[in-house]
Amino acid sequence: MRQQKKQLLSSLNNNRRPTILYLLFAVSFLSLFLFAFQSSFFSGSFNSDRNAESISILSHFQSTVQQCVANRGLGLTSHIIDHCKLILKYPEGTNSTWYNAQFKKFEPLEYNYDMCETILLWEQYRNMTTVLTREYLDARPDGWVDYAPQRIAQLGTKKCYNKTLCEEHLNILLPAKPPFRPRQFHTCAVVGNSGDLLKTEFGKEIDSHDAVFRDNEAPVDEKYAKYVGLKRDFRLVVRGAARNMVPILNGSDNEVLIIKSVTHKEINAVIKTIPNPVYLFQGIVLRRGAKGTGMKSIELALSMCDIVDMYGFTVDPGYTEWTRYFSAPRKGHNPLQGRAYYQLLECLGVIRIHSPMRSGRRQDWSDVPSREMISQAHAAALRLKKSQAASDIGQFGNCKVWGNVEPGKSGPVSGSSDMSDIRKLSNYSKWEVMPFKSLRKEAQDHYMQMQGVTLYKMDGNKLDDLVCVRHSLKSEV
Ligand SMILES: *[C@@H]1O[C@H](CO)[C@@H](O)[C@H](O)[C@H]1NC(C)=O
Ligand SMILES: *[C@@H]1O[C@H](CO)[C@@H](O)[C@H](O)[C@H]1NC(C)=O
Ligand SMILES: *[C@@H]1O[C@H](CO)[C@@H](O)[C@H](O)[C@H]1NC(C)=O
Ligand SMILES: *[C@@H]1O[C@H](CO)[C@@H](O)[C@H](O)[C@H]1NC(C)=O
Ligand SMILES: *[C@@H]1O[C@H](CO)[C@@H](O)[C@H](O)[C@H]1NC(C)=O
Repeated sequence: MRQQKKQLLSSLNNNRRPTILYLLFAVSFLSLFLFAFQSSFFSGSFNSDRNAESISILSHFQSTVQQCVANRGLGLTSHIIDHCKLILKYPEGTNSTWYNAQFKKFEPLEYNYDMCETILLWEQYRNMTTVLTREYLDARPDGWVDYAPQRIAQLGTKKCYNKTLCEEHLNILLPAKPPFRPRQFHTCAVVGNSGDLLKTEFGKEIDSHDAVFRDNEAPVDEKYAKYVGLKRDFRLVVRGAARNMVPILNGSDNEVLIIKSVTHKEINAVIKTIPNPVYLFQGIVLRRGAKGTGMKSIELALSMCDIVDMYGFTVDPGYTEWTRYFSAPRKGHNPLQGRAYYQLLECLGVIRIHSPMRSGRRQDWSDVPSREMISQAHAAALRLKKSQAASDIGQFGNCKVWGNVEPGKSGPVSGSSDMSDIRKLSNYSKWEVMPFKSLRKEAQDHYMQMQGVTLYKMDGNKLDDLVCVRHSLKSEV
């Protein structure tokens, strides 16, 4: 505006035109100015009305969340700071024996959360791909040079200038496009390894889910069937556990392994001899440690399931030690922080928690906000964020980087040339070659609504930076 005005004035001063023309200019300039002023004023008050409405929706939602925490939190209470921020507090006198050796202090009894950011983040996971693919490496700037080497431990270098070499290491667990889709399953069970599982008999209930996700070395056999069930679909595996997979899998040929951090010599050798599908997890934060397999399991499950039921996570009060259902207790990270966060996630409709102290009321979810209410709160949180960003975000507004897959060029399925017959003749590629028509209707509808675009996180838990890859709808459908 100011720039325009200057230009206009200087052009007027320079040209010695008749006065009438000058006046005409002045009048039209003034009306233009008034118009601009008025419309900015109106859109301003319109925005602040909309903001007030969003804030009121969120405040209402927040009191439902607060009530939910009070009902389900086993002593946790929430304290509202504003329409987004809240604090979860443990009861006074909670025995915080979990000494943090690194910071030389006992763990705190209260935790701050931004509910708006949390809901935006976790609703986003319902639309994400969390398995590393070739299309992701192709789309990401320097994906092969900078990112790929971080996922290959045996490479021993930070840059991969020879793409062929990197491909040789990754091929065996790198599908061309996402093997799994958002909304692929209706119900999923995520089963942790806590010793708590032996206090209940959730086995049958766990097995009744469309897909079951387990962790690391968790045994699944007749001995524990009553407690943890027998169904096996996905297993999230950290580096240290990878070498023990052969006895753990014992004939479970279809169970999908998702390697959490990096591929390395041992696991690559194991993969060649087993028939199972194996992939790398995508949304890992590489700079941080391997902490929090639980959170990654939720991300993985949420990226393909409508409902995520959690079993075997240490969420009930009274913990003095980390326990496992199949072996001696180990020391782990502090449970208070995770427990509070899981409770928040349950009351935001992300997960459902099943544990001994809740087993009596396990099918009653009436005090958790409904899907409809969550959608409204999500939309309100998004509107507030948009008005702060002063630009329209839209369905693909978070896409920082775009990739394209040419029709009919989705590339090879994963696998390497030197794998053994047991793998070659197995069904490891069944998810990768699954026809679109065999998908659940909700997954097909979602794909159409997304116009064939798959979304990936650029880095860990950041909301805004997505890598988006466009597929030709014709080649799929
Ligand atoms: C807290 O727990 C520890 C370890 O179980 C126990 O030794 C201690 O007595 C407990 N303190 C209180 C105040 O209950
Ligand atoms: C790249 O790696 C491949 C596979 O190891 C090798 O055959 C090729 O010679 C390498 N190319 C260069 C330029 O080093
Ligand atoms: C593998 O599973 C079979 C039953 O399917 C069982 O008989 C056998 O003992 C198991 N082997 C090991 C090493 O657990
Ligand atoms: C491989 O998986 C497909 C799809 O689930 C199935 O139709 C086929 O029978 C399986 N083949 C074998 C050998 O298990
Ligand atoms: C997720 O996808 C659905 C379409 O199935 C879309 O309506 C919704 O806006 C998307 N949500 C996010 C957070 O991207």
